[in-house]
Amino acid sequence: MSQSLRAVLALAVGALVPACHRSTADAESIQKGAQIFLTVCSKCHGLDGKGGVATGSAHAPRNFCDAAFQASHSDDDLKQTIQKGKGAMPPFGNMFSDSDLQGLVLKLRSFVPANVTPPVDPTKGQ
Ligand code: HEC
Repeated sequence: MSQSLRAVLALAVGALVPACHRSTADAESIQKGAQIFLTVCSKCHGLDGKGGVATGSAHAPRNFCDAAFQASHSDDDLKQTIQKGKGAMPPFGNMFSDSDLQGLVLKLRSFVPANVTPPVDPTKGQ
């Protein structure tokens, strides 16, 4: 291969990398989030995200398939709950990296049926 062809190829590959890198990272964090959900979160929240296992008198875990729940929580709210815990949910602190948290949020968002438009009720935000 000629030197200049090599240089052109290197440039072309270099130009492609940022675009590919992003989607690979997203795909990886989605997969990681799904895996963490399965191993860590699903024992309380259920594989289908509908929750149901209440501990004592505390709130039962939220139903992640509920569009109203999704609409009233920003991505940051969800990440904060995971890190700080809430009610009977234990805080996970720094156990998860930023991309793990992002993956978990994407996983939580994936529970809402795609054809449901969440009702936006500004008075209900927490
Ligand atoms: C030991 C059981 C338990 C585990 C494990 C658990 N949760 Fe929870 N989670 C709960 C309970 C109980 C609630 C309801 C808390 C409340 O509102 O008082 C909750 C609530 C939540 C909420 C909603 C918070 C809100 O603002 O209403 C989110 C989001 C959440 N959990 C995500 C996760 C994720 C992601 C994981 C895995 C990393 C996880 N949980 C692991 C028990 C658990």
